[in-house]
Amino acid sequence: MLRFVLENAQDTELLARTVANHLVPGDLVILSGDLGAGKTVFARALFRHLGVNEVVTSPTFVLVKSYQGRFPVEHVDIYRVNDAEELDMLCIAELLEEGHLVVIEWGEKALGLFGPSYVQVSLERLDAEVSVDEEVAGDAKRFATVEIVGPQFSGRRGQMESEIGEIWSVA
Ligand SMILES: Nc1ncnc2c1ncn2[C@@H]1O[C@H](COP(=O)(O)OP(=O)(O)OP(=O)(O)O)[C@@H](O)[C@H]1O
Ligand SMILES: [Mg+2]
Repeated sequence: MLRFVLENAQDTELLARTVANHLVPGDLVILSGDLGAGKTVFARALFRHLGVNEVVTSPTFVLVKSYQGRFPVEHVDIYRVNDAEELDMLCIAELLEEGHLVVIEWGEKALGLFGPSYVQVSLERLDAEVSVDEEVAGDAKRFATVEIVGPQFSGRRGQMESEIGEIWSVA
């Protein structure tokens, strides 16, 4: 597990690109963190880096949005999903099996349901006293935690961690 500080939204986008460089079809990325932490900012940069040219908007209301990058990618937000049946209807397991890259905001709610392998990025606002609206847009710090878990990543984890470690000098 890596933990470090992102200085601003550009830093969050750099982390997204750094992770994206190592992702392949069928991978699962779980994004955690409170409202306004930067999950959509992260997902947007990740998709852009994987060749998605379309505008990426938050899927909070539609739950799943599909894009075509270098391979098919899915942007999922399960903030409003509260039971297993509703989650099943999103067909996330099938999408992963078909080789779609799936990124799930609030994905910790589904941790373990889609196999043992995933990358989890958690973003935490450092200064909870300041509301998201009061922050200078894009210019606040976040704590990032990155966990790379499971056999699907066994051949990639070391390289991913060392690249992240080089940029954010985590021990
Ligand atoms: N270091 C940072 N990283 C990411 N976003 C930041 C950062 N600092 C400030 N911001 C701002 O915080 C907001 C994050 O919004 P975003 O929609 O990405 O959050 P979210 O986690 O997806 O929220 P929700 O749970 O509502 O989906 C943006 O307005 C962004 O500019
Ligand atoms: Mg969001």
